[in-house]
Amino acid sequence: MNQFTGSKKILTAVFISGRGSNLNSLIKFSKKKSSPIKINLVISNTKKAKGLKYADINNIQRKIINFKKKSLAEMKVLSILNKKKIMFICLAGFMKILSKKFISKFNGKIINIHPSLLPKYKGLNTHLRVLQNNEKISGCTVHYVNNKVDYGKIIMQKKVKISKNETVYSLNKKILIEEHRLYPKAITKIL
Ligand code: GRF
Repeated sequence: MNQFTGSKKILTAVFISGRGSNLNSLIKFSKKKSSPIKINLVISNTKKAKGLKYADINNIQRKIINFKKKSLAEMKVLSILNKKKIMFICLAGFMKILSKKFISKFNGKIINIHPSLLPKYKGLNTHLRVLQNNEKISGCTVHYVNNKVDYGKIIMQKKVKISKNETVYSLNKKILIEEHRLYPKAITKIL
């Protein structure tokens, strides 16, 4: 029970592969009494993920699962998720594609953040492609995860204007600030 609201928070896992700035923002959000989630597990496919430090700093259990053999890896992940009674998964810069089977086990309970205005610019190197196409606007999207990469139903988006001398670096910085605001908002919207 949440000591403040008397309501139960949804036990949540965050999956990362790298820097973890969205993980950090989600942890901060989860600590607010109004947040519907409690993050009690961080999964990474690599020990090199810098974001693992946020799990350590906040005393959140973290597991490194090698995804070279995907079906084995997913079995291990599922068993940990079951043990920890995880009901909700946030992907935050997780660079592995989860199988249809895995996603169906968590149907409607896995969401992701992507640094573009989906359905435009799915996949990698979004900012570079956006700038090469002389777009005037880009942004970020939080969406449900289905079995196609960056395809699931959109939950929320935030637009960002592209300046005249925008670079991949500056656009990434601008959009990341919005990502950190949007992800918690989107979670609040659906939970
Ligand atoms: C973010 O831009 C996110 O939209 C994308 O991967 C990046 C992860 O950044 N899916 P971080 O690890 O959260 O800092």
